[in-house]
Amino acid sequence: MTPFPARRLRRNRSSDATRSLLRETRLHPHDFIYPLFVQDSSPSPSPVLSMPGVFRHTPDSLLEEVAKASAAGICAFAIFPCIRPDLKSPTGAHALSEKNLLFSSLRSLRSSFPNLIFIADVALDPYTDHGHDGILTPSGNDVDNDQTVAALCELAVAEASAGASWVAPSDMMDGRVAAIRHALDAAGFASVSILSYAAKFASAYYGPFRDAVGSKIGKKSISKASYQLDPANAREALLETRMDIAEGADLVMVKPAGPYLDILGKIAENSPVPVCAYQVSGEYAQICAAAKMGWLDYEQTRFESLLAIKRAGADLILSYFALEACSALQ
Ligand code: PBG
Repeated sequence: MTPFPARRLRRNRSSDATRSLLRETRLHPHDFIYPLFVQDSSPSPSPVLSMPGVFRHTPDSLLEEVAKASAAGICAFAIFPCIRPDLKSPTGAHALSEKNLLFSSLRSLRSSFPNLIFIADVALDPYTDHGHDGILTPSGNDVDNDQTVAALCELAVAEASAGASWVAPSDMMDGRVAAIRHALDAAGFASVSILSYAAKFASAYYGPFRDAVGSKIGKKSISKASYQLDPANAREALLETRMDIAEGADLVMVKPAGPYLDILGKIAENSPVPVCAYQVSGEYAQICAAAKMGWLDYEQTRFESLLAIKRAGADLILSYFALEACSALQ
């Protein structure tokens, strides 16, 4: 490589036009999946206090938000139901009820927007009173893997029949991707994709999401670390991802995104399937909070945080900033 002064790297950075021509990574509305919350316990959208600008939508305002985002070019949405506390139970049985708000939301979204992609989480945490992603063992000291997988299979099929384009197991039970694939195929939903939360870490960054859906862990004797990945472990994240792909995942996810760009980079380099990254609630909240204090520039930090996730290798980014960021791109 020619050394200085013959090679001056600043030449390629010298003007807006040069920088724009030479930019390696660009954000586009089709890079995004927009996560949205829906509730039916209040007549108007209610703000999530730890996520400024994010609302638990009513079924009607959910449709309006999707219409707005679709006009901004976004074509994929992850729908999260906020289930009323009186409907939650130890086994999360309401997940499979005809009256599950998620199903009615998916049905109306599907009929209003036949060409958009709607993604439904497969996990029991919105429905369990203890906030765990599955059913507990009789002793109450663990999440029962296989009993949970059986319930998740039923949930995935119900989501598919309500209109989900992709189902997204976010529970981190062992063997769930293969079981869900089998259940979907057997029920006639071979065309429904599985987006596996494959490298999902036991992260403190999910705090604001748990405020939003009311899934704060009630039972302290079990930790989500008994099923989600240890933030210290990269090799295990790669193994988990390889296994989910072998079990039939159509897409895989790394979550959180920003603090795990090393994992994202490694997985994106080797994955034979598309890789998503979830910029989670706590990543969103910390940018909002610092900007509110006047300590960070909101628009620039928002943009840089998303660009970094794409540069690291994400094919798709789940972000609460999705609509704002895409509106700013236009
Ligand atoms: C449910 C689920 C969680 C998130 C997405 N799906 C929380 C958790 O596992 O406790 C977190 C998303 C976010 O923080 O934005 N299994």
